Formats: sequence, C-alpha cells, structure tokens
Amino acid sequence: MSVNPSQNLQTSAGKGSTSKLPRHVAFIMDGNGRWATARGLARTEGHRKGLEALRRTIRHAGRIGIEVVTIYSFSSENWNRPKTEVSFLMGLLRRFVQRDLSELHEANVRIRIIGGRSDLEPGILALLAEAEDLTKNNTGLTLVVAFNYGARAEMARAAQNLARKVLAGELSPEAISEEAMSGELDTSGLPDPDLIIRTSGEMRLSNFLLWQAAYSEFYFCDEHWPDFDEAAFDKAISCFGNRERRYGGLDAKAI
Ligand code: FPP
Repeated sequence: MSVNPSQNLQTSAGKGSTSKLPRHVAFIMDGNGRWATARGLARTEGHRKGLEALRRTIRHAGRIGIEVVTIYSFSSENWNRPKTEVSFLMGLLRRFVQRDLSELHEANVRIRIIGGRSDLEPGILALLAEAEDLTKNNTGLTLVVAFNYGARAEMARAAQNLARKVLAGELSPEAISEEAMSGELDTSGLPDPDLIIRTSGEMRLSNFLLWQAAYSEFYFCDEHWPDFDEAAFDKAISCFGNRERRYGGLDAKAI
C-alpha cells in the first residue's frame, strides 16, 4: 500500500484559520450491513467490502496529505451483535493486521490503537501491540484504530487515572484541567479531529470521540461505507474547505 503524504497541500494551521485540508479526519464507517443486504448477501460480505474501502481510504488520505486518520472499527456496543458477526469482525481485524501491517510499515504509517483492552483475546492484544510497536517511530500518516472503543468508557478511564493521581498526592483537584483530561485519554498527544465523516445517512456520533469532537466539523453522506471511494472522500474534503471554523469566536469580518 503506497501512502505518500503530499507536501503541496495546505494543512490546517491552528485556531481561527480557514484551513483547506483537515489534519485529522475520523470515520464512522457505517452501512456495511445495509450494503450487503441490499445485494442479497450476508452482512459479513459487507464488512469484507468495507475493509477494501478502508484500504482505499488510507491510501487516499496519505496521497492528499492528511496527517491523522481515525477509524471506528468496532465499538464497545458492537459486542451486542450476533456472536458470528462479532467473531467475523475480530477475524477481519486479525486479517487486516496480518496482511497489511508490513505494507503500512513500508509506507511509513504509524498505527495507534484506542479503546478498552480488557475484553479482548490475548491473541488480538498481541497483534495490536505488535502493530503499534513496529510502527511507533514512523513519521507518515498516523492511523488510529478505534477497536472495542466507546467514548464514555474512555472518559471514565481518564477520570479514574486522574483520581488515582489525586489520591497519591501527585495532583491537586484544581489541577484537573482540560489539558490534564486530554492527556489521560487514549488519544493523548494526537490532534483533535478536524472532520468527522459518517457514511450511510445516519446523523449521530454513536459514542465516538465525544471529548475530542468538541470543535470538529461533521460530514454525513448517503453512500454505504463499502461504496465510499476517492471521489466521495474528495467531496467531503472540499465541503470541509468551505466551512468557517470560529471556535466560539466571531468571523474576522464581524469584529
Ligand atoms: C458499521 O456498519 C460497521 C462496523 C460495525 C464495522 C466496520 C468495519 C469495517 C469497515 C471493516 C474494517 C474492519 C476492521 C476491523 C479493520 P454496520 O454493520 O453497522 O452497517 P448497518 O448499519 O448497515 O447494519
């Protein structure tokens, strides 16, 4: 997989800027099941096609110069699906790491995993650790894989860590700032998403990056995830380019 961040596109440049290219794009890859059902196929076939769309998306993100891509690949609520679908998704993650890791590494992609680790099988945990470890010094696109992820649980874990530090006398309650909280989240050190794209017509966050999305722009499109292609991605980026981000302030012309 060749992922070559382009140097000639404008990247976002801090608060109040009218950046044309988001630094960080997060995806809620929705509609795999509907895509398959509409074709008389098993839902798992939709997930398989969804993996192809994911590969396309990572490649394109690198090509156009996006710095961070986050994908919602398995939510903490997805355990409620039928056992066969859950185990298919676990298998798909394994296949993704086993088949694509060396190519992603060669393409200088750095992989970060976010989400709860406690419910995952040791085999999967080992694969995820291997992916993070192998790619930790890469300097190209950062691919953040949200797996067994739920934002409320992430925030609760962060609050527990802060409480432990207070109990240990390392931190005063007054020192619990937005920065301190951000620093305890799974996404610590990453920029917040500039753009969150959800496919398949639903317009909700579904417990994804609730803290980090405070000033994200949202883009919803009707394509089911397996149909999401370069043109659909470019359309979302172009729409983002026309948004005016004010972060609660005023348009410069209004001051
Ligand atoms: C939501 O569609 C999608 C998921 C729960 C899984 C997303 C997985 C992929 C895109 C494949 C890549 C996966 C990994 C693990 C790297 P849905 O099944 O809820 O669709 P529906 O709303 O139409 O039923």
